[in-house]
Amino acid sequence: MAFVKLCSSISKQIIQPAFRVQKLSTPFSRSLSTAANYEFIKVEKKGEKENIGLITLNRKKALNALCDGLMNDISNALDSLEADKSIGAIVLTGSEKAFAAGADIKEMQNKTFSECFSGSFLSAWDRVSKTTKPIIAAVNGYALGGGCELAMMCDIIYAGEGAKFGQPEILIGTIPGAGGTQRLTKAVGKSKAMEIVLTGNQFTAIEAEKWGLVSKVFPVEQVVDEAIKLGEKICTNSNLIVAICKESVNSAYETTLSEGLRTEKRLFYSTFATKDRKEGMTAFLEKRKPDFTGE
Ligand code: CAA
Repeated sequence: MAFVKLCSSISKQIIQPAFRVQKLSTPFSRSLSTAANYEFIKVEKKGEKENIGLITLNRKKALNALCDGLMNDISNALDSLEADKSIGAIVLTGSEKAFAAGADIKEMQNKTFSECFSGSFLSAWDRVSKTTKPIIAAVNGYALGGGCELAMMCDIIYAGEGAKFGQPEILIGTIPGAGGTQRLTKAVGKSKAMEIVLTGNQFTAIEAEKWGLVSKVFPVEQVVDEAIKLGEKICTNSNLIVAICKESVNSAYETTLSEGLRTEKRLFYSTFATKDRKEGMTAFLEKRKPDFTGE
């Protein structure tokens, strides 16, 4: 009996892609099968209400180098977490030594231009930036090349004191190919971005925070917990309005100021079509906590 209880509690911690759940009969086989489904990552539910999806990159020997298999795992996990109504926010992390040391150089070494072009190399990574639920990067150790780009695809970056960021592609005869010249420039400005991408120099978590790339820096062992707490705080708001707000901030990245302001206004107006906007304002005036339903 105790064994069954234990298995049940383990399985609750692990998220199952919906299409595979039906095939499995016992909680024990479910948790084992889930672990096997993801070769390069771990996926768990965290937070007091288990409403935070935690994705941990788990390719330690290669410092979480972002091979195709790992990026496919992330995409599948994001599909699964986005489809799971109990999940309000997602945290993406690596190990203490490396968030991720970049795209997999072994996989890239013999690639040709035509293979890259016809296969739209790295386009699948865009899945991360298309996540509609809030996604927070909790970065410890190296976040280099594609690792830095992966963190920048997230909505918010929390970093551990020892984190090292950088775009070292220039040192291996190429350039950033997953947003490093674009998102970094928007985050830190042209002069800093040029210095970083043209030298390949690494920079610290404190510098990243000072330049606006990182939102907050914590002692190494606290980063993931703080990111989960941040996710929980965001989840106290309406998930519908959070998604709308996220879309509005993201439009600042992709449009001119006047187009962005127009988008913001339209999205602001759209909140007036929701029950949660009405509930939020009514609750304020009635001096009580709002009860958001995501409608
Ligand atoms: N790809 C493949 N394997 C990698 C890797 C990467 N990006 N980064 C590290 N590894 C592997 C190493 O090859 C090594 O494997 P072996 O034990 O089998 O030899 C293992 O991880 C440990 O690495 P090191 O021995 O080098 O560890 P270190 O502590 O001495 O150095 C490091 C750490 C400074 C991060 C160093 O590993 C390094 O410089 N890595 C490459 C960083 C890089 O250039 N990233 C950019 C990649 S290109 C890119 O990302 C393009 C893009 O825009 C998407």
